[in-house]
Amino acid sequence: MPEFIGQLPKNEPAWNAISSVQSFQRYTQGIHFDCDHNSRLTLTVLSPNLIRVRFSPNGELTPRRSWAVNLPNAEWNIVDFNIQETNELITVETEKIKVCVQRHPCRIMCFDKSGNPFAHDTDLGIGWRKNQIINWKEITIEERFYGFGERSGLLNQRGKCLTNWTTDSLDYTMLTDEMYQAIPFFMSLRPNVGYGLFFNTTFWSQFDVGADQLNTLQLKTQDSQLDYYIIYGPEPATILETYTQLTGRMPLPPRWALGYHQCRWSYDSETEVRELVKQLRNRRIPCDVVHLDIDYMQGFRVFTWNKQRFPNPKKLIEDLKQQGIKVVTIIDPGVKFDPEADYQVCDEGLKNDYFIRRVDGQVFHGYVWPDRAVFPDFMRGKVREWWGNLQHYLTDVGVAGIWNDMNEPALNDRPFGDVGSSKITFPMDAPAGDEEDKTTWKETHNLYGMNMARACYEGLEKLRSQRSFVLTRSGFAGVQCYSAVWTGDNHSKWEYLEMSLPMLCNLGLSGVAFVGADIGGFTGDASPELFARWMQMGMLYPLMRGHSMIQTKRHEPWEFGQEVEDICRKYIELRYQLLPYFYTLFWQAADKGEPILRPLLYHYPNDSQTYELYDQVLIGSDLMAAPIYRPGVEKRMVYLPEGTWYDWWSRELLQGSQHILIDAPLAKMPLFIRAGAIIPLVSVMQYTEELPIDELRLLVAPGTGKFTLYEDDGNTFAYRDGMSSTTQYRVDLEGNQVVVEVGERKGKWIPIERKVIVEVIGFGEQEFIDDGSQRRLVYQ
Ligand code: GLC
Repeated sequence: MPEFIGQLPKNEPAWNAISSVQSFQRYTQGIHFDCDHNSRLTLTVLSPNLIRVRFSPNGELTPRRSWAVNLPNAEWNIVDFNIQETNELITVETEKIKVCVQRHPCRIMCFDKSGNPFAHDTDLGIGWRKNQIINWKEITIEERFYGFGERSGLLNQRGKCLTNWTTDSLDYTMLTDEMYQAIPFFMSLRPNVGYGLFFNTTFWSQFDVGADQLNTLQLKTQDSQLDYYIIYGPEPATILETYTQLTGRMPLPPRWALGYHQCRWSYDSETEVRELVKQLRNRRIPCDVVHLDIDYMQGFRVFTWNKQRFPNPKKLIEDLKQQGIKVVTIIDPGVKFDPEADYQVCDEGLKNDYFIRRVDGQVFHGYVWPDRAVFPDFMRGKVREWWGNLQHYLTDVGVAGIWNDMNEPALNDRPFGDVGSSKITFPMDAPAGDEEDKTTWKETHNLYGMNMARACYEGLEKLRSQRSFVLTRSGFAGVQCYSAVWTGDNHSKWEYLEMSLPMLCNLGLSGVAFVGADIGGFTGDASPELFARWMQMGMLYPLMRGHSMIQTKRHEPWEFGQEVEDICRKYIELRYQLLPYFYTLFWQAADKGEPILRPLLYHYPNDSQTYELYDQVLIGSDLMAAPIYRPGVEKRMVYLPEGTWYDWWSRELLQGSQHILIDAPLAKMPLFIRAGAIIPLVSVMQYTEELPIDELRLLVAPGTGKFTLYEDDGNTFAYRDGMSSTTQYRVDLEGNQVVVEVGERKGKWIPIERKVIVEVIGFGEQEFIDDGSQRRLVYQ
C-alpha cells in the first residue's frame, strides 16, 4: 500500500472546517450555498427522495468523469421543491423529505415528513486538509447499518470502520476490512425511518460507522471534494430502487446461469472435464455449467489454450453442449510479458500502447500466474474495446461465459512463491484513462475490476448473439450492470458457511443481486457434513457454484459418500424445480434493483427483531430458509415474522411473530412459505434446457397475496424488444374458501402449450391448459 493511502504525513496542517453560509442562490435543480473562504456547498434535487450533496473547499466542482456510474444530473427530470428561509435555516422541501442547511455554522440536517431526523451533521460538520475530507454525521441509538458492498462478518455493520479500496483479500476473516469489491453505499434503518447514502467517490474512502465514536458516522475520502447522495426510503426496497436508478441494474442473465455450476482449480484436461460431466450425468446431479480455471491456458497466457491438455476445445465444447453443459473460462488481467514469443495479446498491447505505464513512461510490470505480466488500462475506451474483442479466442470455440479474476488487481513485486515476494498495486501516480479525463490510479484503482468486467461484458455482447455469463471478483458501485460477483477465496470451514449468507445479503443490499460464495469452501478440505450443509445453503445463492482450490480434496458431490451425494442431489433438484421462481426474482432485480437473497429486514423493516437476524434469509418475498451452519446441530431456533407461515416439508401451518424450535437432521434445511405465497415450480431436469416446460405447478399457501411470473426465451436479447410476458396470480380467502385468480398473460412471449397445476396447501389441486386467459379457481 502506498504511503499516502489511509495515513497522512506527520507534519500535515491542521483541519479546516466549513464555517458560515454567506449567501445562496436557487437554480433549476437545487441550491448553491457560498460559504466563508470561497468554499461552496451544492444541493441538487434529483427526485423527491434523492438529493445530491456536494461540497468543495475551493468552490470548484470537478467536471463529471466519463466513468462515473451515476446518471448525470442533466438526465434527471426536473423535480418540484420549495425553499424556506429563516435567520437560522434554509430549508429545501420535496414531497418526501426536508433538507435544512443551518447558516452559522453551516450544517446539513434531514427530516422525513413526520419530522424524524436522519443523516444530521454533527457539531464538526465538514472538515478538510490536504488529501482528505471528512463529513461527521450523527447516528441515533436505534440505527443499524447494512450494505457497504462486500463485507465479512455478520449483517449489521455498525461499530466498524469500513474502507472502500479493492484488494485481493485472500484469507479474509470476520475482521478483514478491505475486500475484493469496494461499493461505497449503505442503508441505515430504524423503525419507520430508513435512508441510503451513496458516497460518490472513486478515491480511497472510508465509513467509520460508530467505531471511533459510538454515535458518529464519518465519511472520509482522499478526494478533493465531498460528493454524496442521500436516498430516502423509508423501506429498503425504495432505497435500492433509487440507488440502482443511479448506478444501474443488472441485465437479465441467460436462464442456464441460474443452474448449478461446477468448478475446480482446475479440471485441467479434456479427459478430466469429460469424466466430470459423465459423472454428473450418470449420477443424475443436475448441472448447467462447468468452469475452467487457469490451467486450460498455455503457460497462463490469457486467450490461449494448452494444446496438450485441450487439443480440440471446439470439439470438447460442442460435445458438452450436446449434454447440456456450457463452458465458462477464467481470464485474468495480467498479460504474460512475452515479447520474444509469438504471443499476439502481448504484442498487440505493446504495439498499441494499451498497457499501464509508470509516470516515467516505462511499461509497468508485476508478477502474477504467468510470472512477469503487463496490465491493460481498462479505464480507456479503446483498450476495453480491444479486450472485449479478444474474447473471440474463447467464444469462437463456443465458450459461453467469462470469469474475471485477480482484478483488484492482485499482483506481486516478484514472482509468486519467491521469498520476500509481496503484494503491490499499480503505482498511485501512474497515468490512467483517456486523454479527456486523464488521471492517476489514485482515482481509478477501485474501478479496475469493474472496467475489466465491463470490457468483457461489452465484448461478449458483440461477439455472441445471445446472453452470456460474466463473473468478476472485483468491482465498484454499478458492477451489477456488467457482471455477477462471487465472494472470492473462502475456506472450507463452518465460519465461512455462516458468514456467506450475511455477506451475500449485504451485497444484495448494495445493488448487486447476482452473487454467490464458493460452495464447499475454496481453501481446505470440507467434511461430508460441512459439504452437505453447504449445498443446502448454496441452493439459495443466486449464483450456485461449487469450487475448490488446487491440491485440496476433490469437492464434487459424490466425493463424500452416498448420504451426502443424495442430499446434494435433493437440494440441487430443488433449485431446478424453483427455477421459474428464481428467474422471476432475477427479473425483479433487473427491473427494480431488488435483491434475490434478502435479509428479513428487507420485508419487515419495522420489526426490529429482524435487524440482527443474519442466519435466516428470504428468497424473494415468499420463501424463507433457516439453514444449519454448525457441526452436529440438528435443531435450530427460527424466527417467524408477522403473519402465517407453512413448513415447506411438512406443510404444517405455523403462526408468525414467534420463535420456534425446528428439527433439522442432516438431510433437512428448514424452509418456510409465507401465507399468500404463490410459488411456480417445474419438474426436475438435468439442465435448464433439457425438456420443454409443458407443465407448470403453482404451489399456493392459503392467505392473501400475489405473484407476477416473468417469462421469456431465457437466452436471446429478444426480451429487449418486448418478447417477454408476465402473468399475475392472486390468492385470497373468502370465508372457508380459497380463491386463486389467474390474470391474463401480458406481453408478446408465448410459452409452449402447457398444463398448469394449481395446488393449494390443504385444499388439493386443480389444473387447466394455459391459453393465457384469465380464470378463477375456487377451493373449499
Ligand atoms: C484466485 C481465485 C480462485 C481461482 C484461483 C486460480 O485465487 O479467487 O477462485 O481458483 O485464483 O485461478
